[in-house]
Amino acid sequence: MISALRGMKHVLPPQSGLYERIIKICEEVAKNYGYEFVLAPHLEQTALFRRSVGESSDIVGKEMYQFEDKGGNDVCLRPEGTAGVVRAFIEAKFDRAGGVRRYFYHGSMFRYERPQKGRLREFHQFGCECFGEPSVYEDASVILMINEIFSRLGIKTKLLINSLGDAASMGAYRQKLVKFLDAHEEQICEDCKRRKLTNPIRVLDCKVESCQKIYENAPLIIGSLNDECAGEFKKLQEILSGNGVEFEIDPKLVRGLDYYCKTAFEFVSDEIGAKSAVAGGGRYDRLVEYLGGKASYGVGFAMGIERIMEILGGRENQSARNGLYIGAMDADGLDAVYKIAINLRKSIPVLVSYEPKKLQKHLNAADNANARICLCVGEDELKSGKIWLKDLSEKAEKTLDLVDLETELKRILNV
Ligand code: HAM
Repeated sequence: MISALRGMKHVLPPQSGLYERIIKICEEVAKNYGYEFVLAPHLEQTALFRRSVGESSDIVGKEMYQFEDKGGNDVCLRPEGTAGVVRAFIEAKFDRAGGVRRYFYHGSMFRYERPQKGRLREFHQFGCECFGEPSVYEDASVILMINEIFSRLGIKTKLLINSLGDAASMGAYRQKLVKFLDAHEEQICEDCKRRKLTNPIRVLDCKVESCQKIYENAPLIIGSLNDECAGEFKKLQEILSGNGVEFEIDPKLVRGLDYYCKTAFEFVSDEIGAKSAVAGGGRYDRLVEYLGGKASYGVGFAMGIERIMEILGGRENQSARNGLYIGAMDADGLDAVYKIAINLRKSIPVLVSYEPKKLQKHLNAADNANARICLCVGEDELKSGKIWLKDLSEKAEKTLDLVDLETELKRILNV
């Protein structure tokens, strides 16, 4: 047997219904906030991610599905969605056109990570990206969107926020941090020594306990924010509090991708392994220019659908009965049953049994398919233009004229 690749998971019904439900809620909320659907390729030039996500990130350093295609191009399966949307935005010349544009997307992302609970090699994200909007109200809006999505789904998470400052504050901070790291060069791990040279702030993310002990005394980015960044960070907190969103400031939150400035945030949950992120994002005002476009503001987020499914998976009840099942008791009734089904399918989900069988067997099959209604046609019904119906939720049954069927079904199914 050929099995699936490690870290690549298929999702069959009924779990796939949960995936659909999550995406539907995400889309509804995103549209209410003015975001529009965008489709971006799964395959991009490797250089796109090297330049955006960053050479010093684990994603680019270790986790890319990178290969040479038949034309000799260095390509990569997208490890995240932002870079591709930014590239599309620039190629469409929207950076030059100006104005504010808001996009949402969902689909597969690929990272060659060590698979474990809540960590896959192919996973799905729902994400939003807003271009051309400098206001911190939009940073608050993307956080509020996630909050609304999680509240509709009934998920409890913890929101962590931080500010990474702008280029000026970050430059000043980096100098202070490198000085601190130089003073502790002997005690920090090999990875942190490397990070000190490539992207020092990533040391704050180090998982080695002895390093974390040292960084308890490290200078923090928040202490180096200039007035503009500090003011915006304060305003963000006010907007969140004013709209009933609880948060915690995590001054060591740096995110695993290099393109952020100012607002950075993560929604974490303990239900999928210690403090795993269910969603994350922030502002990236330099990324468009860095990828060759005209400088444009950017802010956005992405959430991991499998991680949400993992949290909800244990809790979801059996889904409610839906649609109808129709079958015939004799071979002569099959054509009639099929015709009725095709007509009803214009407005109602209908399962047809192509095999004539006894009423009880049809009822069992309807029950197994989780149908709300079972319809059955026998020789007598066929002759008299009637049909037998059972509401499997209400346990009520009746025989009715075929002409009244559709109205009765719509009444029961409330469609
Ligand atoms: P990220 O934090 O790398 O951000 O990923 C966002 C979310 O994707 C994570 O919070 C997590 O739920 C999910 N995720 C990441 N890796 C895996 C994995 N191996 N298996 C399952 N789920 C995973 C980004 O990707 C940014 N592009 C977000 C963003 C958009 N920032 C601004 N705009």
